[in-house]
Amino acid sequence: MARLQTPAELEELRKQILSTRDPNKPCITLCSGSACNASGSREVAAALEEEIAKQGLTTDVDIRKTGCHGYCERGPIIVIHPEKIAYFQIKPEDVPEIITETIQGKKVVERLLYTDPATDEKIVHEHDIPFYKNQERIVFGSNSSVDPKSIDDYLAIGGYSALAKALSAMTPEGVLQEVKKANLRGRGGGGFPAGVKWEGTRNAADPIKYVIVNADEGDPGAYMDRSLLEGNPHAVLEGLTIGAYAVGAHEGYIYVRQEYPLAVENVFTAIRQAEEHGLLGENILGTGFNFKVIIHQGAGAFVCGESTALMTALEGRAGEPRPKYIRSNIVGLWGRPSVLNNVETWANVPLIINKGADWFTAIGTETSKGTKIFSLVGKITNTGLVEVPMGTPLRDIIFKIGGGIPGGKKFKAVQTGGPSGGCLPEELLDLPVGFDELTKAGSMMGSGGMIVMDEDTCMPDVARYFLEFLTDESCGKCVPCREGMRQMLKLLTNITKGKGKEGDIELLEQL
Ligand SMILES: Cc1cc2nc3c(=O)[nH]c(=O)nc-3n(C[C@H](O)[C@H](O)[C@H](O)COP(=O)(O)O)c2cc1C
Repeated sequence: MARLQTPAELEELRKQILSTRDPNKPCITLCSGSACNASGSREVAAALEEEIAKQGLTTDVDIRKTGCHGYCERGPIIVIHPEKIAYFQIKPEDVPEIITETIQGKKVVERLLYTDPATDEKIVHEHDIPFYKNQERIVFGSNSSVDPKSIDDYLAIGGYSALAKALSAMTPEGVLQEVKKANLRGRGGGGFPAGVKWEGTRNAADPIKYVIVNADEGDPGAYMDRSLLEGNPHAVLEGLTIGAYAVGAHEGYIYVRQEYPLAVENVFTAIRQAEEHGLLGENILGTGFNFKVIIHQGAGAFVCGESTALMTALEGRAGEPRPKYIRSNIVGLWGRPSVLNNVETWANVPLIINKGADWFTAIGTETSKGTKIFSLVGKITNTGLVEVPMGTPLRDIIFKIGGGIPGGKKFKAVQTGGPSGGCLPEELLDLPVGFDELTKAGSMMGSGGMIVMDEDTCMPDVARYFLEFLTDESCGKCVPCREGMRQMLKLLTNITKGKGKEGDIELLEQL
C-alpha cells in the first residue's frame, strides 16, 4: 500500500473500499473479543469457515471476526447482516443449521434467538434486545461492525476522516478549543477536563512534548479499555494522533499491560497499517505533520495505571508514583510536557472532531458530557460492557440493561470506581451516573467498573477483598499505603473471621 499523500486520496480510497462492498451480501459478524474467545468463539469461526466452504458459499458470504459486542454473558454471539439477526451462545454444532436455514433459506433459527425473560418472546434483532435497546453506544458500538485487524473496515465506517479534517481544515488551536468546548472529561479516573490538560501541554515552553494512552486497566472486574483497544484500535490511534497535533507532540506511547495479549496484538497491527497508509509517521496525509507511536507493554501492576508511576515505568524504571507538585502535563515523561489520557477518552476525540462539540454536549448532564462505558459484573443477570449517556440512573443500568439480580435475590449494593471507590446501596439506585454525582454520594466514577452485589454479599468481606488487592499491589513507596493498608487488612480479616474487638471500627476510621 503506497502512503496516502492527501486527505483527498484518503477519501478516494474510502470510496474504492465501499465500492467493493455490497451492503446486501450476507455477512456474519462473530464476536471475537477475549470474553467470547474464552467461551468458544474461535471454534465457531473455524466451523463457519468450514461449513461455508462445504456448502459452496465461500464467495457469497463474508465472515467478519469483530471486537467485543458487549453482551458477554451470552457469547459467542453472531449477527447476520443485512437483516441483523442475532444469535447467542453459539456452538460449532449450531453452524450447519445457521448456514442452511438462515443464510440459504432466509429463515431464523428460533432456538438461537434471545428470549425476553419478561414476556417469553423471541427477539430477532440485536437492537430490540433490552440489553442493547437501552444503551447509547456511540464509542463502543463500532466494535461490532469492524474487524480490528482490518484498516479497510475502519475506513469503511468513516475512520480517519476526523484526523484528515483536523490536519487539513483546523488549526491545532481550533482542535484544542473544540475538545475544550465539548468538556470531554477523562474517562480513566478523576474526570479531569481533557481540553484543559491539553492546553497546559500545548502552552508549555518545552518544544518536545508527548501524548500517552493509559491502557493499564488494573481494576478488578473492569475490562472496557481492554475491549475497546482490542476491538477498535484505530479509533484510539486516531484520537491520539489528533491530540498530538493539538498539543504539538510528535511522539506518542501506548502503555498496555502484556496480560492483554489480543489488545497488544491488535494495536501493533493497527500501528503498522496506519504507517503503511501514511496515517502515522512522517508527513501524515501530506500535511507536514509527523507523529510516531510506540507500544510499551506493562508488566501488570495496578499502581502503574497512576499517571506518574506509568510515566516512570515508561522511562524504564520501577513503576512508582511521585508527588505532583507540578502536573505531568507540564513536567511528565522524561521531564517533558506530557498528555496522558485513558483509552476511552482518546476514543471519544474523533467523534467530537467529526460531529462537533455541540453534538457531544447535547448528550449527558450539565457537568458530565457524552457517554460512559461500564463493565457490569458481579451478581447481575446480563454481565457485559454497556455504554450509556452520562446521567442515566443506576437503576436503569442494573435493571433495564443488566436484567436485575439473578436467582430472585435482592439487590444490596453496587461498587463503582475501582478498589479506591465505594459501594452504593439501594437508597441510591436512582442516582444519575456522572463524575460529580458519584463523588458526592461517596464513591467515584473511576474508569467504569461496576460490581453488583446481592443480599448474600457480606460487605466486610468486600472491603477485605479490595484491601487485600490494594495491599498486594502497593508498591511500598509511601508509608500510609505500605503500612496503613496492612494494618487495616489485619483488622478487617479479624472482623470477617468473627474475631473483631471493641474499637476496631474506630481504629479503621482513624487509619
Ligand atoms: C492507583 C491508580 C491506578 C490507576 N489506574 C488507571 C488505569 O488503569 N487506567 C486509567 O486510565 N487511569 C488510571 N488511573 C488514573 C490516572 O492516574 C490518570 O488520572 C488517567 O489515566 C488520566 O486519563 P483521563 O484524564 O483520560 O482519565 C489510576 C490512578 C491511580 C491513583
